[in-house]
Amino acid sequence: MNLASLVLYDKIQQCATLSGVAAKKGRHVSKDDLSVIENAAMVVDSDNSRIVWIGKSQELPPQFENIVNRYTCEGEIWLPELVECHTHLIFAGDRSHDFAQRTSGKTYAEIAAEGGGILTTLTHTRKASLQELFENGRAEVERFQKLGVGTIEIKSGYGLSLESEIKILKCIQLLQQNVSVQLIPTFMPAHAIPPEYKGRSDDYVKIICEEWMPEIAKAKLASHFDVFVEEGYFSVPQAEKLCLKAQDHGLHIKVHADQFKSLGGTSLAVELNAQSVDHLDHILPSDIKLLGSSNTVAVLCPGASLFTGTPYAPARELIDSGARVALTTDFNPGTCPSRNLPLMTTLACTQMKMTIAEAIAGVTYNAAAALGLEQKIGSLEVGKQFRVCQIRASSYESLPYSFGELE
Ligand code: NIG
Ligand code: FE
Repeated sequence: MNLASLVLYDKIQQCATLSGVAAKKGRHVSKDDLSVIENAAMVVDSDNSRIVWIGKSQELPPQFENIVNRYTCEGEIWLPELVECHTHLIFAGDRSHDFAQRTSGKTYAEIAAEGGGILTTLTHTRKASLQELFENGRAEVERFQKLGVGTIEIKSGYGLSLESEIKILKCIQLLQQNVSVQLIPTFMPAHAIPPEYKGRSDDYVKIICEEWMPEIAKAKLASHFDVFVEEGYFSVPQAEKLCLKAQDHGLHIKVHADQFKSLGGTSLAVELNAQSVDHLDHILPSDIKLLGSSNTVAVLCPGASLFTGTPYAPARELIDSGARVALTTDFNPGTCPSRNLPLMTTLACTQMKMTIAEAIAGVTYNAAAALGLEQKIGSLEVGKQFRVCQIRASSYESLPYSFGELE
């Protein structure tokens, strides 16, 4: 190993490595699994940005003692960089009017049925230029980054025509060339039925499967595929067709399920070995059991529940059943216009009765698992990427305690 390329970070006040969480693959996480090291040191290879050694400062092996590039990190608390595993970040316009209508008693479903909701954002997004979407997108990514996030999954889904879905996915590609955050692109044409296909959802599913999917996959514009299983959106048989086709094209599967009603999206996701199934506010007890013994990650969206005034997902039951639970903002203009992932850990602890350890695993290791990236990120271990979230606080417990105001 080339000593000149090594960097030593020394005297880190506290480092939560989460190696215990990784050993348990994110199930039944306890406080001990955060594997906290007081007065820690880390050696990083700057050539490939990989962690070479991690442990107590006073136990640094002699071969690293003469490293020239070294930093003293007194007063810093280190965690794995946060992973945002579910956003709808590329869009134009806002939906403050939807929110105003909800405060006068209308539901999300009623607003959507009257042509508002996702279709409002669709109109603005179709009209926006790639440059405009790029500028908005970059500002949003920077907001996430300021709050400790290093990887962001971004879904398309506000275009819903081949041309505008490509515009959104190209925008993500362009963003990736301009930001240091790692972006994961997800193709989500099945986010709503576009106006051209009103009353003809089967035809819409068919064109996605036969024409759009091959084109997106061939152009390598996405690594994942997602579908919104919900009354008025996509049924389980439609979602099954779409997901199987996506898998044929080598895309990983994610499913939005049980957000407002339970239609069977969760059991479909488990059956297809989806990487994650997201929302789950109305998950059935039998599906909780199913998820508990599967590898599919349960991604919970407490910000969307807070903002729409709907029930929170049964996090405790999911965790107790053995499910791997991740947390997300679900950042989007309709149900959660917040980019504050640390705040989601606060909501998880106070509203869903998750422990601090579970919440931290939910925005790091388990969120990485929801993207199939847990071998590379999500914990601080030898061989993994050097991606850390550094906070000025008294301990890692400040992440949920700070109520979204990280320093
Ligand atoms: O995850 N559930 C579907 N999609 C988004 C909402 C999108 C919107 O309302 O614009 C969600 O909550
Ligand atoms: Fe979503």
